Amino acid sequence: MGSADVVTETVWEIEPHTKAKHEILTRYLDAWFPILASWSERVLFIDGFAGPGSYRSGEPGSPRLALESAKGQARFLRNSNVMFLFNEADPSRFQLLEEWRTNGNGAVPSNFSVLTRNQQFVDLAGEIVERRGDKRLVPTFAFVDPFGFKGVPLALICDLVRDRRSELFILFSFNSVNRWITHEGQQGNLSELFGCSDYAQADGLGPDERKRFLADLYERQLREVGQFPYVSRFEMIEMRGRTSYFLYHCTRSLKGLEVMRSAMWKIDPTNGSQFSDRVAGIEPLFDATFTLDLDKLLIARFKGQTVPIKVLQDFVLTGTRYAPAHLKKETLKPMQERGLIECIGQKRKGTYPEGVLIHFL
Ligand SMILES: C[S@@+](CC[C@H](N)C(=O)[O-])C[C@H]1O[C@@H](n2cnc3c(N)ncnc32)[C@H](O)[C@@H]1O
Repeated sequence: MGSADVVTETVWEIEPHTKAKHEILTRYLDAWFPILASWSERVLFIDGFAGPGSYRSGEPGSPRLALESAKGQARFLRNSNVMFLFNEADPSRFQLLEEWRTNGNGAVPSNFSVLTRNQQFVDLAGEIVERRGDKRLVPTFAFVDPFGFKGVPLALICDLVRDRRSELFILFSFNSVNRWITHEGQQGNLSELFGCSDYAQADGLGPDERKRFLADLYERQLREVGQFPYVSRFEMIEMRGRTSYFLYHCTRSLKGLEVMRSAMWKIDPTNGSQFSDRVAGIEPLFDATFTLDLDKLLIARFKGQTVPIKVLQDFVLTGTRYAPAHLKKETLKPMQERGLIECIGQKRKGTYPEGVLIHFL
């Protein structure tokens, strides 16, 4: 399925966009493990397409990063049973992963358990879902990071993370989907991937429209089938300027949305939505202008109203593309200086702690 999407070497060179993906993942997990553990005594991290554990020059792969993240938060997790399930289908990659698990992962706290599996992701997910039956799975963060789009059925994945506190971080292999969309032999895989056949409507659209259509459709399916009210998406662009894939983070928690939104804006300070291998490491050469228009959005929504700061914080997350960090110092403070808002219950001008009311003139 598209040779460019499938790496044949057991261990391969890491690419800048993979590092960006890892940074989003670790930033999120660093914040998320303690939150999950505060909700539940048992938490589960599933890496369904774990890889060999390391890249060619020794850079850590996702299993190592997840484990290191949890170790870094160990003091918050000491009353929890933290389980890791790393699955890799390829035997030689699995062998390396196993070697790392048994010899190379350093001291692991006694309340952590690291399990590895060497099977097709669909079989593993199917097994977990079947064993769970009508019961609930412990709060789970599932990372689904395939090459290509085969064996990534939306319905099964959504079933795996159907419980309220479970989350999904999934890669949508846009480039290969785009290439194979009309291929007769791939229709079964594509229908499973999307959980519907609407993707066929992309045929005949121009390149940009087609990309938006497919990315929107996948997002819609995650929201509807997965019943995730909060879905964040991030685009990865490869060296030649083509979109390689999209990452989607799906949660039912506003706090989860907040943490992911902040992580994405850290990686892309101009849009919070994409990373390009083309400019990796040389971003300072480009004068990317960032126009923050959150003030306009707030005025359009709240003019004449008096609202608690919490309402504005939630609005930033659910009604705009911005991050929490854009609200206070970068937007409310200048608005107050310009006389566009008045604050009730504010102890010091320019600060907006919990409980402060904002009146939009
Ligand atoms: C993109 S790589 C994973 C990279 C890893 N998650 C990381 O970030 O370091 C995809 C991995 O999935 C494995 N794989 C391919 N098909 C699979 C399947 N059906 N089930 C499980 N693993 C599979 C491949 O061998 C490859 O190692």
